[in-house]
Amino acid sequence: MITPKSQVFAACRSRPFTLRTFGTSISGMTNIPAKRGLARNTANYGDKDFALYLRRSFAKSMGYSQAMLDRPVVGIVDTGSAYNNCHRTMPELIEAVKRGVLGAGGLPMPFPTVSLCEPSLFPTSMHYRNLAALDTEAMLTAQPMDSAVLVGGCDKTVPAQLMAAASADVPSVQLVTGPMLATPFQGERLSACTDCRRYWAQYRAGTVTEERIGQLEGRLATTAGTCGVMGTASTMACIAEALGMIPLGHGTIPAVHADRLRAAEEAGALAVRLIENPIRPSQIMTAHSVENALRVLLALGGSTNALIHLTAIAGRVGVKVDLRALNALSDSTPVLVDLKPTGDGYMEDFHAAGGMPALLWELRELLHLDPIDVTGISLGERLVEPSFVDRRYIRTRSEPVSPVGGIVSLFGSLAPRGAILKRSAATESLFEKEARAVVFDGLEDLANRIDGPELDVTKDDILVLKNAGSLTPAGMPEAGYLPIPSRLARAGVKDMVRMSDCRMSGTAFGTIVLHITPEAAAGGPLGLVESGDRIRLSVKDRSLDLLVPAEELARRRSSWTPPAKPKRGWDRLIADQVLQADEGCDLAVLRAEG
Ligand code: FES
Repeated sequence: MITPKSQVFAACRSRPFTLRTFGTSISGMTNIPAKRGLARNTANYGDKDFALYLRRSFAKSMGYSQAMLDRPVVGIVDTGSAYNNCHRTMPELIEAVKRGVLGAGGLPMPFPTVSLCEPSLFPTSMHYRNLAALDTEAMLTAQPMDSAVLVGGCDKTVPAQLMAAASADVPSVQLVTGPMLATPFQGERLSACTDCRRYWAQYRAGTVTEERIGQLEGRLATTAGTCGVMGTASTMACIAEALGMIPLGHGTIPAVHADRLRAAEEAGALAVRLIENPIRPSQIMTAHSVENALRVLLALGGSTNALIHLTAIAGRVGVKVDLRALNALSDSTPVLVDLKPTGDGYMEDFHAAGGMPALLWELRELLHLDPIDVTGISLGERLVEPSFVDRRYIRTRSEPVSPVGGIVSLFGSLAPRGAILKRSAATESLFEKEARAVVFDGLEDLANRIDGPELDVTKDDILVLKNAGSLTPAGMPEAGYLPIPSRLARAGVKDMVRMSDCRMSGTAFGTIVLHITPEAAAGGPLGLVESGDRIRLSVKDRSLDLLVPAEELARRRSSWTPPAKPKRGWDRLIADQVLQADEGCDLAVLRAEG
């Protein structure tokens, strides 16, 4: 029988919290073990009583009463930053979480961690995802807390927090800032960032004027929140909900809706409940829930980046995401959600249409129903038939947006360990193609030559970018959406086959092969491709091949040298430790097996 979520939260709020602290009995406490709250993880001076005494003394300098310090502690990961527009509502979200924690009998302790905003970081936010994960894991582990609420939103923050929670294994609830609202503007609606890309492509093609593109700049992102389409942030919020780390129905609430604050309050209350009935991330994020999340990713037509992030999260709990198995899932999972960049709607439409509860209900026969979520209830028990679904945005399995999933993996002589293509955002007439490669050695070469009049390129060529993977100083940017050479764009060419070892924004579209593995800088065949080589792409056969004789490739390989490593710092750590895309680009030392 299903326990309604409201009852779970009501139980959480009404149950007074009792606690036995380190060596001290607090009245009314019964069977809760010691070493909770501030008594956890005391510093080691060789005198534990003194360490706790010192900690409490300093905590009292912040004005807490003894009664407050005796409460169980909920750590709240605060990723607010003046650099992070997507986290603009962080202060009020944190206040709401604190309200929920206090109301349920806990002591809320917000603390800052690295905040990653997609457009604010050089070379890329991806370059720092593992740093955020490392920071968050360390603080979850080192500071005294009994449970945590992880507040994130922008693309890399939620994956980083889930990776950290998986490794620290502290009972945790994920909360997201939520998507921005689309803006009505001159007869259409606009939102970051599919519309940014659409208009920029038109500007490059000369069909949008300088004045108009300037005008649009202030209309593309007008409210707080994450990008308003099914980009990486939205996909990751839905995946976190599918994994069970966000309560059902909470991942897609718009950032500026009052329900977003109520979800924050509930997250705080739920985190207190997790102290009394601990459910650890490793019990929630399992092989079954990861497979469910993959199904959801495919049914959403979600971001290709999410595949890397889910692989990294799963790797933290020892679950392997197999790219070959992905194809079997993709062939049996329809795209049901009709949102940009693959469809028409925005995140607010998806939420109002029924959101994840409606989508999961549609997918239920394809899902494992045993995984529990942060409320401790299995998916099968949580799913109920929705009373309303707007079929413009969430289709039935009998009338899908596409009968097969949004992403496929490709293998072959150019991608021995795989590559991916978001077929739901691609041009079907380009799916089977053998053509000449036009190669760019890196981002600088791309920027220097793509629009040059001397570039030898036609619409039937394949654009290839190499040396932009996770091992390079470029930091695996979202540059896989190579611009159509302006000469061709002005002639009306809207799509070409493009391929690289980097990523693509979840808000982008086109026939774009990504994450070619091993990357060029790791010695993959991609690093040997030269302009004029023939490449064959077959989505039907799931293949990607470089049609160059083996002897010629051997000759090229004999003169290939790996790039020099940075001398120090985070960049050096990345160069020494980062794994390839098929392993989630995590640091080797941070995975479950280390
Ligand atoms: Fe933060 Fe798009 S820039 S979600």
